[in-house]
Amino acid sequence: MSFRIQPSPVARPNRCQLFGPGSRPAIFEKMAASAADVINLDLEDSVAPDDKGQARKNIIEAIGDIDWGTKHLSVRINGLDTPYWYRDVVDLLENASDRIDQIMIPKVGCAADIYAVDALATAVERATGRTKPIAFEVIIESAAGIAHVEEIAAASPRLQAMSLGAADFAASMGMQTTGIGGTQDNYYMLHGDTRHYSDPWHWAQTAIVAACRTHGVLPVDGPFGDFSDDEGYRAQARRSATLGMVGKWAIHPKQVALANEVFTPSEDAVTEAREILKAMEEAKARGEGATVYKGRLVDIASIKQAEVIVRQSEMIAG
Ligand code: COA
Ligand code: MG
Repeated sequence: MSFRIQPSPVARPNRCQLFGPGSRPAIFEKMAASAADVINLDLEDSVAPDDKGQARKNIIEAIGDIDWGTKHLSVRINGLDTPYWYRDVVDLLENASDRIDQIMIPKVGCAADIYAVDALATAVERATGRTKPIAFEVIIESAAGIAHVEEIAAASPRLQAMSLGAADFAASMGMQTTGIGGTQDNYYMLHGDTRHYSDPWHWAQTAIVAACRTHGVLPVDGPFGDFSDDEGYRAQARRSATLGMVGKWAIHPKQVALANEVFTPSEDAVTEAREILKAMEEAKARGEGATVYKGRLVDIASIKQAEVIVRQSEMIAG
């Protein structure tokens, strides 16, 4: 390994991020009562331009008034290409209670985008005497975002999480699809007459995971649009979890349980991980660096793999 140790991301569960439009305050209490680890109140694309001002007021009021329990509370601001974003940041940080944890910056294209929001947030925090620094999360959802993903992951100590936003990403890349995540009908290989479906999101996900792991940021899978398709959501989430992502968005409350199910290590997986750790302890006592567990090789790298699962499970259990 490089002498530079890989930094750990913040130790909090981020299995599911539940979204709701800031212009629909009637669902805020339901969001607070959900089983999502993270709540994303939206000022961006689920809010019509004429409703932006009212949505800010709704959100600022709800941050103070609603009991959000232990949830990580995040507000998605508008993109830096809009006239709305500075007012989002200023109003939130001047007027919202300290219960707000995080701002989500959409459509980031380069590290300077984070720098700009950081500079503004820092000035408002100093002016108002806020003592709890606001955390950031970002969405990678453009060609520029994925091209500059590593500098974005390194852009600010405020940055805790990074999501892949499939819909805007597909549009920016010119992908021929209107699907939001999941299997795409025209993305297949032919073997004889059999179609083998491949995963068009895979490379962007792995680029995000690598950038995040390099800089101690949580990698998160974004939305799955077809909320009638539970198995499709599960399949997408399982692929993301296998690649190293820690959670996924819910754009409808029924997706929360699916995300929690996939991103909570199963009892079987935790038991096996603990058995591997035990087998390696016994091997170490015998002076061996490698041994056999259930007919397969385990060695010192297996300890690190098993620890990922055990640590994740313990962190979720609190
Ligand atoms: N969070 C919490 N509860 C929600 C909710 C949400 N995001 N969306 C809907 N509900 C509630 C409804 O109020 C309803 O409650 P009830 O049973 O007490 O009446 C129940 O869940 C079922 O809702 P349903 O009728 O199936 O959905 P809908 O037509 O009211 O809303 C969406 C569907 C997709 C418009 C809505 O879920 C939504 O706005 N999702 C988030 C969109 C968003 O934020 N996008 C930006 C990120 S991509
Ligand atoms: Mg988007």
